[in-house]
Amino acid sequence: MNFMRPSDLPNEDSPDSPQGFDADIEISATQDSNAQPATPAEIHDMQAVGALIRADRLLAGYFPGVNILNEADLYAREGELVGIIGPNGAGKSTLLKALFGLVHINSGTVVLRDEDITNLRADQLVRRGVGFVPQTNNVFPSLTIEENMQMGAFQNPSNFTTRFDEVIDLFPTLGERRKQRAGSLSGGERQMVAMGRALMMNPSVLLLDEPSAGLSPALQDEVFVRVREINATGVTVIIVEQNARRCLQIVDRGYVLDQGHNAYTGTGQSLANDPKVIELYLGTLAKV
Ligand SMILES: Nc1ncnc2c1ncn2[C@@H]1O[C@H](COP(=O)(O)OP(=O)(O)OP(=O)(O)O)[C@@H](O)[C@H]1O
Ligand SMILES: [Mg+2]
Repeated sequence: MNFMRPSDLPNEDSPDSPQGFDADIEISATQDSNAQPATPAEIHDMQAVGALIRADRLLAGYFPGVNILNEADLYAREGELVGIIGPNGAGKSTLLKALFGLVHINSGTVVLRDEDITNLRADQLVRRGVGFVPQTNNVFPSLTIEENMQMGAFQNPSNFTTRFDEVIDLFPTLGERRKQRAGSLSGGERQMVAMGRALMMNPSVLLLDEPSAGLSPALQDEVFVRVREINATGVTVIIVEQNARRCLQIVDRGYVLDQGHNAYTGTGQSLANDPKVIELYLGTLAKV
């Protein structure tokens, strides 16, 4: 297969990028010279107005009284590609799981369009257009590719054929090898199955947890190209990535999560060029 490199893809200035978000948190802090500078949370509240999905001040964790998310804020506008980076254990996966109803939210809200979806079950969220690809164990290895896709469409089986054809347009390999067991596929191919499965319900928001983890650099490139392609079809994507520099290259906007809290946010480009982000999270040689 012939894959474009992520550097060939349009950047956030391209005409097909979503409009209307002015993401750099540090530039819009004060209008009135007498006012106190807005806090990051207040800036989030201003910028998140009209977002497709937003999470405000999330406190969530795995055990009562122990919060992993510590007032995390996040939003994504319709059509946006949003990245979340941060150190191991920062709570990135926990944040995605909280959005998808897999970790209990003790305080704070998640709103999809105008509906409060805080702590809804995953199946209820899928019905509302939220898709999720977990970090691990994201395919059924003993099932064929086609059967995996059927699992993805189980809430709407009558639409299977039409939707499978659409997903195959994005991932032709899945169609060519539809009878092959997912367990016999390479890591990169499995990621395509996992993303394809999540796309079977035609989500408006797709949550991806480290889709490039464990893949060779070439396959990582392929995953990033695919993510951009999925986003280009109109799906809003929120992606957690361990490959932070590459992630910031492809996203419209990003968050640096540290200890369950937003440490930095801004456009992918501004984060990648922020000396503090480089020093703390990208390494001193990081350049985008
Ligand atoms: N199922 C769980 N039960 C209890 N604690 C958990 C569970 N999953 C994660 N944690 C804890 O929550 C914290 C955040 O973990 P999380 O997996 O969200 O981090 P992460 O940012 O995704 O890290 P990584 O980059 O390693 O994937 C860690 O301290 C982790 O030990
Ligand atoms: Mg994780």
